[in-house]
Amino acid sequence: MSATLLLLSLGALGLALPQASSNASVVSVPQEHTYLLPDGFEGNSNYTFVNGTHTSSDTINNVLAAAKAAPAISYDQEFLDVVGTDPEIKLIEERPEGHDFAYEMGVWVPERNSVWFTTAVSGDRVPAVMYELDLGTNKISEVQTKGNLVNPNGGYYFEGKVYIATYPNNQTYSGGVVAVDVNTLEVEMITNSYFGLRYNGVDDIAWASRDDNSYMYYTDLNFAFLAYENLPPLQLPAAVYRWDPQQKVVLPIISRNEINPNGVRVSPDMKTLYVTDSDATFAAAGPNSPASGPSDTFWLGPYVWAYDLNEAMMPVNRRLFAQVRQGIADGMHVDDAGNVWTGEYEGAVVRNPAGKTIGVFNSQYFSADKDAGTAVGFANFALAGDTLVMLSATRLWTVKLAKTVVAKDSPIVN
Ligand SMILES: *[C@@H]1O[C@H](CO)[C@@H](O)[C@H](O)[C@H]1NC(C)=O
Ligand SMILES: *[C@@H]1O[C@H](CO)[C@@H](O)[C@H](O)[C@H]1NC(C)=O
Ligand SMILES: *[C@@H]1O[C@H](CO)[C@@H](O)[C@H](O)[C@H]1NC(C)=O
Ligand SMILES: *[C@@H]1O[C@H](CO)[C@@H](O)[C@H](O)[C@H]1NC(C)=O
Repeated sequence: MSATLLLLSLGALGLALPQASSNASVVSVPQEHTYLLPDGFEGNSNYTFVNGTHTSSDTINNVLAAAKAAPAISYDQEFLDVVGTDPEIKLIEERPEGHDFAYEMGVWVPERNSVWFTTAVSGDRVPAVMYELDLGTNKISEVQTKGNLVNPNGGYYFEGKVYIATYPNNQTYSGGVVAVDVNTLEVEMITNSYFGLRYNGVDDIAWASRDDNSYMYYTDLNFAFLAYENLPPLQLPAAVYRWDPQQKVVLPIISRNEINPNGVRVSPDMKTLYVTDSDATFAAAGPNSPASGPSDTFWLGPYVWAYDLNEAMMPVNRRLFAQVRQGIADGMHVDDAGNVWTGEYEGAVVRNPAGKTIGVFNSQYFSADKDAGTAVGFANFALAGDTLVMLSATRLWTVKLAKTVVAKDSPIVN
């Protein structure tokens, strides 16, 4: 899959451009094109920016055409520093349609030189299964945990354990957070209720530490209805919770009036909490997916929110970090430089800490056209040292980056 860098220079009207059919693996699109196009342009929010935008300028159309077939689209030099000019891209495994084996979690486990990932929890794919990709051999196998692991979804590596968000099933399993020891593979239940009420479907987890204390942040929203028709009635509003293992206390810390939370991560300095919001474009309001926010007509939206973590490690000062162009932001990972990577319909979108989109690992390339732009297109991935693992539903890929983005001893191996 190697190819040459196609660097289309900024504002280069009149410059001879490389052919759009070239197989460049990284195509640069000037940042200005994201906010300024010739009058009369047309765009389509059902398609990616580079695929669905047409202008009266051949120059710009050629840049976009080259980008839509490329694995990586760069909007900034900062992204080129991460991806390099010619990343090695490997298709590790492809499974037939209908078996979305590579979809959620994407947790690097440094001790095992592996990445754990899970299947989609929806439709006929329940119960979910957790797999391990051995980064040394590129072999994939099911993780044989010792103890009950039901419907694993998002996860987070912290101090020798992977904390896993699990969905309920339509029988006795209520869902919650479990921890799996990466050496013994023993499963321990961390939380499964809030004063005797069932969670809706714990979806993702992040750990943050300050001084000698650590806290686990986790999101709870109702996506379990996508997997089971006959779940018990919902008992709790969607929320972000925090578990304090020092004091042994669980507190709801962000309400559904603010956000319908999905992915959650922290910055490397532990000062910022990021939460993705799954409203508006994902599913219509209904009994299973009640509108959050003041009314059905004012749903919150496809956003990534940032909060400061104050002295008490509580989220304050909510502000908009990113507005998703297509679909929702689902899974999220943060690298050691503080860049925020989100799984969106466009692919793995990378924003710098200031919120600028610096590049995208293009869903249209990794997932194939038929998958991109649908609700089960692209949700999550993993950052494992200098390797990006793309969980593209029926396909699992690795991309060798130009540098280590998350170090083994990082405080946010995630
Ligand atoms: C691009 O790759 C395809 C498939 O490998 C090949 O058929 C085609 O000739 C390549 N095009 C160019 C311009 O290199
Ligand atoms: C996008 O897709 C939806 C659902 O298929 C459709 O209703 C809508 O008209 C489409 N929008 C555009 C701009 O094509
Ligand atoms: C690209 O555009 C075509 C229509 O021209 C559409 O069928 C396809 O779904 C789009 N793919 C993506 C990933 O946007
Ligand atoms: C639970 O859901 C599964 C999958 O949809 C279904 O096959 C099974 O019959 C359901 N079990 C009960 C007890 O409702």
